[in-house]
Amino acid sequence: MINPPVKTNKPNVTLSPQEFSDFRDFINVEIGLNLTSEKKSLVLHRLSSRIEKLNFKSFREYLRYVRSQNSGAENERQHLFDKITTHTTRFFRESKQFELLEERILPDILNAKAHSAQKTITFWSAGCSTGEEAYTLAMVLEHYKRKHKKVFEYKMAANDISRKVIQAAQKGIYGRDVIRQIPSEYHKRYIQHGTGPFEAYVRVHPHLKRNITFQQNNLMNPASLPGFSCDVILCRNTMIYFSRTSRQKLVNRFTKNLNPGGYLLTSFTESLHDMDTELSQLSPSIYKLSVS
Ligand SMILES: C[S@@+](CC[C@H](N)C(=O)[O-])C[C@H]1O[C@@H](n2cnc3c(N)ncnc32)[C@H](O)[C@@H]1O
Repeated sequence: MINPPVKTNKPNVTLSPQEFSDFRDFINVEIGLNLTSEKKSLVLHRLSSRIEKLNFKSFREYLRYVRSQNSGAENERQHLFDKITTHTTRFFRESKQFELLEERILPDILNAKAHSAQKTITFWSAGCSTGEEAYTLAMVLEHYKRKHKKVFEYKMAANDISRKVIQAAQKGIYGRDVIRQIPSEYHKRYIQHGTGPFEAYVRVHPHLKRNITFQQNNLMNPASLPGFSCDVILCRNTMIYFSRTSRQKLVNRFTKNLNPGGYLLTSFTESLHDMDTELSQLSPSIYKLSVS
């Protein structure tokens, strides 16, 4: 059956089944996302005004351009990836995981570090969006140090394909209502309130930023790996949008990048059950690389 092209409210740009299929292949190869056919209208909705603004006559022409080596195409690819990705996030998202981190994972890692030459604990927030996940982790680590009177160093890589969200993450400034997401013992200490013209905003305490390096890069690119191997990798609510092949690539890459005994945390709705992996599942969203 031949599907008619989807029309937008802007009459000039349409998306034929063939154009969508080519676009889907491009996105899958470039950034790993799996655009199912239900996403067709969404793709058109998100891109049609951009295509018109740039005066491309058709979706096909736009796709040809973003695939090309033309000067400016790299910039447009970036714009496209910003538009096509979903950035929903919040502080203490799936907070149970941070409890498990405090109760089980950190004590285990600290114990292992006591017998290791490499003392710094290393983290990676892969697909970090606007930074709430990385800053939550930093708050939990700082809180843990105070509460348990522990002294340790940590460093964290946090990356995302979207330039816009990485810029926001680096600033660490959020609308005031994020306070509701953060338990009071944390926000009293680690969140600063804006005053005067900045009253509607809060920012994370500069101290939390010290150990985090935010970087814009593509998880599908092996160069996106942090320059160090990790004790804990968080990749939550990100692989869920990926094709199986891309997820497998990523899980293999994560596994190579974990220290022996290291952990991979996914979201509660994601599972590695269909992956070929040497990681063992400890609980629904926590995986561990064996020590030897
Ligand atoms: C839904 S957010 C999840 C944010 C955070 N991890 C959380 O659980 O709240 C998914 C993020 O993954 C990013 N992303 C998607 N594909 C990516 C890729 N190939 N490389 C790097 N980041 C990617 C998106 O830009 C988006 O910000």
